[in-house]
Amino acid sequence: MNSDNRQRALRPRRSCLAVPGSNPRFLEKAQGLPADQVFLDLEDACAPLAKPEARHTIVKFLNEGDWSGKTRVVRVNDWTTEWTYRDVVTVVEGAGANLDCVMLPKVQDAAQVQALDMLLTQIEKTVGLEVGGIGIEAQIENAKGLVNVDEIAAASPRMETIVFGPADFMASINMKSLVVGEQPPGYPADAYHYILMRILMAARTHDLQAIDGPYLQIRDVDGYREVARRAAALGFDGKWVLHPGQVEASNEIFSPSQEDYDHAEMILDAYEYCTSEAGGKKGSAMLGDEMIDEASRKMALVISGKGRAAGMQRTTSFTPPEG
Ligand code: GLV
Ligand code: MG
Repeated sequence: MNSDNRQRALRPRRSCLAVPGSNPRFLEKAQGLPADQVFLDLEDACAPLAKPEARHTIVKFLNEGDWSGKTRVVRVNDWTTEWTYRDVVTVVEGAGANLDCVMLPKVQDAAQVQALDMLLTQIEKTVGLEVGGIGIEAQIENAKGLVNVDEIAAASPRMETIVFGPADFMASINMKSLVVGEQPPGYPADAYHYILMRILMAARTHDLQAIDGPYLQIRDVDGYREVARRAAALGFDGKWVLHPGQVEASNEIFSPSQEDYDHAEMILDAYEYCTSEAGGKKGSAMLGDEMIDEASRKMALVISGKGRAAGMQRTTSFTPPEG
């Protein structure tokens, strides 16, 4: 994919599975789970002394593992550490051809995204990869990142998603709760509403996806569902999963309705027919009273991609108009 059409491609990301890059057993197991995205972590799930070896473990698993059907992401360390450049160089030089995006945590301003963009460009040129081919996911995890979220979203054509990091964020603003993703006691409304909406507006303004972060009570699937439903209702595209039990819940909650899925498939069929030889090679199509053009086709591709990833079956079929 080149950078021009990246922002429209919108890969399915209902469930984004976190896997510590230092744990080969988890890296093995993750390949068999039905998550839309997997991210191999060099940051907080990877102890400082384990990071150098984990970089090479990740390269090996990206190149030799079977990640088919999944978006492949590596989370590097943030720019305030000494690890970021080495994370990026080792992983992208070693496995750039088998990597879709780099996730950058604790992003605070556009310059941090641009620094990663420039580094990626140099590596892509050096190893002969398409320039701009690797995307960026930016995590918003502190007050400064949220205040600057618009410039972060606009910082690079590589940007694909804005990701909320509730654990670091709660710590950064002194929120009075220790249960990540849960409401702090003593506040009568949703303490996350502003944060999530702020992220969502920036994401939608720049045609990016908005992803909710982790829910750390991994055995409490009902609690996970409740928090995920809240984000999905606002319009978020997906949520992190830390445990196999959360994958199914996330895939279900962030899937389109049957009606929307059927409609999207009909749009794609109508457009394909009308732009084909048999349909008169037109630039737009009609579906009943609805006009379908290239832009509506792209929107339909997003919904149909989500529905197909969910294994949904369509309940309507397209019949070419007569005459
Ligand atoms: C994720 O990185 C978080 O801090 O919640
Ligand atoms: Mg974090």
